[in-house]
Amino acid sequence: MPVLETTRLILRELTLADAALVFELVNEPLWLQFIGDRGVRTLADAEGYIRKACLASYALHGFGLWLVRRRADGVSLGICGLLKRDTHPDIEIGFALLQRFHGQGYAAECAAATLNYARQALGLKRIAAIASPDNAVSIRLLEKLGLHFEKMFQLTPAAPELNLFAIDF
Ligand SMILES: CC(C)(COP(=O)(O)OP(=O)(O)OC[C@H]1O[C@@H](n2cnc3c(N)ncnc32)[C@H](O)[C@@H]1OP(=O)(O)O)[C@@H](O)C(=O)NCCC(=O)NCCS
Repeated sequence: MPVLETTRLILRELTLADAALVFELVNEPLWLQFIGDRGVRTLADAEGYIRKACLASYALHGFGLWLVRRRADGVSLGICGLLKRDTHPDIEIGFALLQRFHGQGYAAECAAATLNYARQALGLKRIAAIASPDNAVSIRLLEKLGLHFEKMFQLTPAAPELNLFAIDF
């Protein structure tokens, strides 16, 4: 069952059958650089990540990070959706696509649809995003989506400084 559909993309909840996509995505250089090492070394680890990061969120919040599939051929491109961390008060938008699909406007397309869904279907009044200050592509995309820089902050006292972006609807 799709959560969201756009001209070229379908977003749906991940299942454990998406472990191969997740395994590849979270081990790509840009993910490791800008999001971090999630310690996913096997397909079983990837299933564990899906359980913790996605299935638990669907059950708790009714939203989460969704699978992004290309409508034309059903190929999985990456993930995009909404997340709520225990350590931060805002609901955030998050996205990551496999590198071979970058630069074709897919992230802009699924992220814009996700923001729309957050506002219209979920009735949320604010969406944030957390980006590493050197993640220029992601920051540019967030600004294009209408989010604005609010402040530098740290998720924990020992963690690196991050940029908080947000949009108030
Ligand atoms: C952020 C990310 C999802 C963007 O994906 P994408 O599908 O390439 O994005 P889009 O094609 O929609 O492009 C968005 C903008 O970035 C630009 N862009 C995309 N890749 C680029 C690159 N390698 N270098 C420079 N600009 C780039 C696009 O031209 C576009 O800018 P424009 O509106 O001025 O044309 C992708 O880079 C990614 O998965 N990164 C790793 C994970 C990550 O950092 N996630 C965000 C954490 S906050």
